[in-house]
Amino acid sequence: MSTPRVIQDPAELDASAGGCFVPTMGALHEGHLSLIRAAARKGVPVITSIFVNPTQFAPNEDFSAYPRPLDRDIQLAADAGTDIVYLPSESSLYPEGRLASVELANGFPIPDVARQPQLEDSGRPHFFGGVCLVVARLLDQVRPSATVFGEKDWQQLQVIRAMVAGDDRFAGIEVIPGPTVRESDGLAMSSRNTFIPPTERERARGLSRALDAAESATTPAEAESLMRATLKSHELTVEYAVIREPERLLPVADLSQPTRAIITARLEFDGGTVRLLDNRAMPIV
Ligand code: PAF
Repeated sequence: MSTPRVIQDPAELDASAGGCFVPTMGALHEGHLSLIRAAARKGVPVITSIFVNPTQFAPNEDFSAYPRPLDRDIQLAADAGTDIVYLPSESSLYPEGRLASVELANGFPIPDVARQPQLEDSGRPHFFGGVCLVVARLLDQVRPSATVFGEKDWQQLQVIRAMVAGDDRFAGIEVIPGPTVRESDGLAMSSRNTFIPPTERERARGLSRALDAAESATTPAEAESLMRATLKSHELTVEYAVIREPERLLPVADLSQPTRAIITARLEFDGGTVRLLDNRAMPIV
């Protein structure tokens, strides 16, 4: 078992400058640990932050219920290769206070890729403002040379890439994508998977099956309709199921170029709802 340095005060973060940074909201699983291992392969100090960011949750979302197994997370992060676990306080990241920071997040300038229609922004207009604000502040505090983001949240990865590339103060920071890690039944790992009752697990497999179905399509429209049909046949509520150009996430006219299938659906059951995301590179036709 490794013992990491645990830092709460950003003034003590000097040792992190030039390291590789993995921002997380905790409830670490194998997906996060693979991002930490990717960071460790850079050969510079690895800093993992754990902070459940209030500005990326809408009032009706699961901010208070979000799992926070802190001691376990610190140990898992250390064993995967983290040198410094950073546990910022809300007041160090948001000295203006909760209400003002939520307002700031709502008006925060976010890259165009965050605003693409029929994706995350259409149902969660608060989300990328909150993510960009917290990541910008974390990058300012940690001052890494590289940062790792998971491909499971494909749109978030593109948004962070665009934000870092578009802002001089982040010049030189490399954004490293981390491949999605899956459970043995194909479900993409997520901190929220623990909320899926065993009896509903089969329905959750609808996401990877929808992506499988899309692979047989010859047009984007056909792929989208196959994904929607598969999600519905698993009694999942479709939020979006689209084929897009992989980086700017613009709609595409055909599949003769690299494209990405991106889906989000809700698994609703007695006593709860779990929002599930997945994506996959589509074959070129
Ligand atoms: O992907 C996440 O866990 C969060 O959106 C992030 C990047 C840690 C920002 O709070």
